[in-house]
Amino acid sequence: MSKQQRAKLVVGNWKMHGRLAANATLLRAIAQGAGELPAAVRVGVCVPSLYLAQTQSLLEGSPVVWGVQDVSAFTHGAYTGEVAAPMVSDFGAMFAIVGHSERRAYHRESAELVAVKTQRALEAGLTPIVCVGETLEEREAGSTEQVVGAQLDEVLEKLSAEEAARLVVAYEPVWAIGTGKSATSEQAQAVHAFLRARLAAKGAADVPLLYGGSVKPDNAEELFRQPDIDGGLIGGASLKDRDFLAICKAAASVAG
Ligand code: 13P
Repeated sequence: MSKQQRAKLVVGNWKMHGRLAANATLLRAIAQGAGELPAAVRVGVCVPSLYLAQTQSLLEGSPVVWGVQDVSAFTHGAYTGEVAAPMVSDFGAMFAIVGHSERRAYHRESAELVAVKTQRALEAGLTPIVCVGETLEEREAGSTEQVVGAQLDEVLEKLSAEEAARLVVAYEPVWAIGTGKSATSEQAQAVHAFLRARLAAKGAADVPLLYGGSVKPDNAEELFRQPDIDGGLIGGASLKDRDFLAICKAAASVAG
């Protein structure tokens, strides 16, 4: 299979949004819309963990998979407020986002902590979506590759090649998140090619590489057309069923 014919993966990151009634409407619409997509596009939603049971009951039997936005670095114990990866697995989840830039920035998560969380997710049978990305200052200083390379290396160092092959990696430039200012397809492809080479050196060249940061219905197709962009991690636009499904359809239009 050539790179252009890779299957695509589109995952919504709801962040701290949603209420029971609105979730039900959104999840039903996504399940219905995803049922009309070709099998070459996989669709997922990462919800606040409190809504996992609701999400499972509404999506089970649909083609849409689900997950959470973080997991604890511990498996169990006296860690008030934390949610452990095995608890997440209890609700049929597939994904756990780890190392999102909002957690690195607002919760002071270090690269080392992100690596431990990745291990906990893998042990629980979850697919970690490991997020990497540079700030505007880092990009302007010419250190994008150094920053995302170091973030990825910290995770890969702790994993075997088999474990690394079970990851999804998301490139999310911090300056593009929630700003309406996406990376251009050339900028994103360049970083994705760099990450692909890094993963290939670990024996994990086929890890799906998602782009995240102001993906919208009108820029999704151009981004997803790039050979090393295997799909998207969608924030704001994943909260509107029409926008999210339009992005999924854009993935379908370029999927093999
Ligand atoms: P936006 O799509 O709202 O820019 O968010 C991207 C993101 O952070 C997904 O994890």
